[in-house]
Amino acid sequence: MLGETARTWLHRWDEQQERYSPDREERFQVVIDIVGRSLDRSGTAARPLLVDLGCGTGSLTTRLARAFPRADTVGVDADPLLLGLAEEAVAGTDIRLLARDLTAPGWADAVAPAPWDAAVSSTALHWLDPGELAALYRTLAARLRPGGVFVDADNRRPADDPELIDIARHVRARRAHRTGRQGREAWAGWWKTFLSAPELAPLTEARARSPIAHRTFRQPNGLTTAAQTALLREAGFSGAATVWQCGDDSVLVAVR
Ligand SMILES: C[S@@+](CC[C@H](N)C(=O)[O-])C[C@H]1O[C@@H](n2cnc3c(N)ncnc32)[C@H](O)[C@@H]1O
Repeated sequence: MLGETARTWLHRWDEQQERYSPDREERFQVVIDIVGRSLDRSGTAARPLLVDLGCGTGSLTTRLARAFPRADTVGVDADPLLLGLAEEAVAGTDIRLLARDLTAPGWADAVAPAPWDAAVSSTALHWLDPGELAALYRTLAARLRPGGVFVDADNRRPADDPELIDIARHVRARRAHRTGRQGREAWAGWWKTFLSAPELAPLTEARARSPIAHRTFRQPNGLTTAAQTALLREAGFSGAATVWQCGDDSVLVAVR
């Protein structure tokens, strides 16, 4: 639909996100490595089901589908504007994109019945408040097959201690500085330009009518890694741990 324009915006999105997650590409690869290990171990599904939660423009979804071409890869997001760009990113593939709010009942039914093989996410679930996140974890625990994984790459608090929170942020900021990504376009400025781009007007109008327009600029939930791990166990996961980290940017894995 938007062709070259969309590709420019997709690239600009990835560049902007690296300001906040300077090792974003490595982090994506870690997510893929974990899913690959889980699929190798299960060895059975002819067409494994992989779900990207809060897929946005499809950065992780497309990388996942390229890594696992046999899989049924599904991206779920509630933002019509970012999904509009994702549609361009997945053109010519069999990736499915679903416009659903992860806090609304029934979103998982639109994806597929159980069993799912893996659910992944990147820089998305910190927008869900603790009750919403607990409900999401319960849904995932009910859908994932035994041994299936939930892999969540996100910025999260390492602990409740303000000094430790600041140290973790500092480590990530220094990494962004060393990799030359600290000066990248900032989140707020990106959105300001994006929302006023004339070529995106139909998608922008769809976004303005959507409840997500009022959700995504809330405060992050502020949950620590320990709190999220506890919620995952309560939801029915057998275990959860951080397996990759740079300051407050980390990959948390939960095994069903
Ligand atoms: C920072 S973006 C990350 C997008 C993508 N995963 C990436 O790494 O580039 C956060 C995404 O979470 C989505 N999101 C936030 N709350 C959501 C909800 N309740 N339901 C569905 N998607 C949600 C937003 O629409 C946005 O696309």
